[in-house]
Amino acid sequence: MTANTVGRLCFRNVNALAPMVRVGTLPTRLLSLDYGADIVYSEVSLSVEKVQVLETVDFVAPDERVMFRTCEKEKDRVVFQMGTADPDRALIVARLVENDVAAIDVNMGCPKEYSTKGGMGAALLSDPDKIEAILRTLVKGVSKPVTCKIRILPTLEDTVSLVKRIENTGVAAIAVHGRLKDERPRHPVHCDFIQAIAEAVSIPVIANGGSLDRVKAHADIEEFRKVTGASSVMVARAAMWNPSVFRSQGLLSVEEVMEEYLKYAIRYDNHAFNTKYCLCQMLRDKVESPLGKQLKSAQTNKEICEGYGLQEYYKKTQAELQARREAIQTNHNHPNQPVLDGDVTTMHVKFERREYPGEFSPKMFLLEWSRKENLEQPRYETVQRSQDRAFQSMVTMTGKKYRSTLWEKSKKYAEQASAIVCLRVLGLPEGRAGEEYSGLVGKRKREEKSNETPDEEDTTTYFGRRAAQELYKESSFSQAVFIAPLSHMGL
Ligand SMILES: Cc1cc2nc3c(=O)[nH]c(=O)nc-3n(C[C@H](O)[C@H](O)[C@H](O)COP(=O)(O)O)c2cc1C
Repeated sequence: MTANTVGRLCFRNVNALAPMVRVGTLPTRLLSLDYGADIVYSEVSLSVEKVQVLETVDFVAPDERVMFRTCEKEKDRVVFQMGTADPDRALIVARLVENDVAAIDVNMGCPKEYSTKGGMGAALLSDPDKIEAILRTLVKGVSKPVTCKIRILPTLEDTVSLVKRIENTGVAAIAVHGRLKDERPRHPVHCDFIQAIAEAVSIPVIANGGSLDRVKAHADIEEFRKVTGASSVMVARAAMWNPSVFRSQGLLSVEEVMEEYLKYAIRYDNHAFNTKYCLCQMLRDKVESPLGKQLKSAQTNKEICEGYGLQEYYKKTQAELQARREAIQTNHNHPNQPVLDGDVTTMHVKFERREYPGEFSPKMFLLEWSRKENLEQPRYETVQRSQDRAFQSMVTMTGKKYRSTLWEKSKKYAEQASAIVCLRVLGLPEGRAGEEYSGLVGKRKREEKSNETPDEEDTTTYFGRRAAQELYKESSFSQAVFIAPLSHMGL
């Protein structure tokens, strides 16, 4: 199977890892991709705040729990699944993650009470107006493809009618778990319903629900596709038991797969409880084996590694991660030293207004330089953390990303700090006191300047209303988002 990993994610003719709470964390997703999955869905997530950590991007809850961890390696193929019952809140979350994922999915099939009592998951199936509102808002509001995952309704007629309404919202694909809301995983999947849906709509249908009796290995995935007439297939439990189900050359032994899983868990600092949980799912009935017992008693990733003879790998990887942390720390101590954090160049920079007495801010210098060089204008993405409402901004210039490691009191200051990082790395003037005036900011700007006294918080007085509008039009996500704690989100 080939997923279109260039440009927008394509859902036709793909094999996908299904969303699975606790199981669908980063190591499982990366391993599934290694074995041949084209697309990987995240577990259903309630995201709150974005934080860049070493090689990963984390979305964390106010209590610091990582709700969704992702990395560059899966960026073009990971679908972020959210639980929601509110179009506006869904859009806030979608905008927070959209630059780090390939698509956004809405969970409309979870039958668990914690989901349905808030009107989310399978509860949405009986509220098609709400479904339409959520999907239309997302399709209109984000730049990435939007999909949803449903269960079937009691009658074929109602199911097809719902799916047609969903198709009309502009979603890129629809995943269908071929079971009713009240059916359990042991019940057989209704392939005939999926088939009727696939015939009724023209968007790709992703068939799901075959792990119990139909999908054991890669060849069965193709068979499931044929039986359901669907465009694509999504696999949950079979991949939870052995992610090499996606491997066209055949299944690998569970022991082999567990070892590879553990390497990813160490590499990406997966929480030990989650590592244990996922490995136990793979062990299945072997949890009472010596390996299973060792696994159960382990409390840390280090102890888990001992059972698999991976102590050396653990030590080496930890040393590498430590070296990277120290490099970032060095960066804090030596502010002028840029440090690469993943694909982002970082520096320890704070925007001190008094150090920039001139009429032109670092952002203006950068903007003017991009215009002069006929480059795409700088693009700012800003996040706000919930504990102190501080802001951090990342600027993208000629495809490269720059960020200050420090948080600022306002969005504008955060953007200025990121612009300074970019200007310093590129060796360009930034308008700091004592810096020789370079004449970079053009005559046009000086002529445009009004008689107003520039207000440090008001971008429009910096470079005229029109230029400000242009800048903001160009930045895809210049509005910072404050995401309320989970309890307030109702997600
Ligand atoms: C452990 C586990 C967690 C799951 N979590 C989610 C979830 O977060 N979101 C979702 O839409 N479905 C979730 N599901 C349902 C699966 O995505 C899938 O629809 C179901 O297991 C049927 O597919 P299968 O026969 O391939 O297992 C979960 C299933 C399992 C087994």
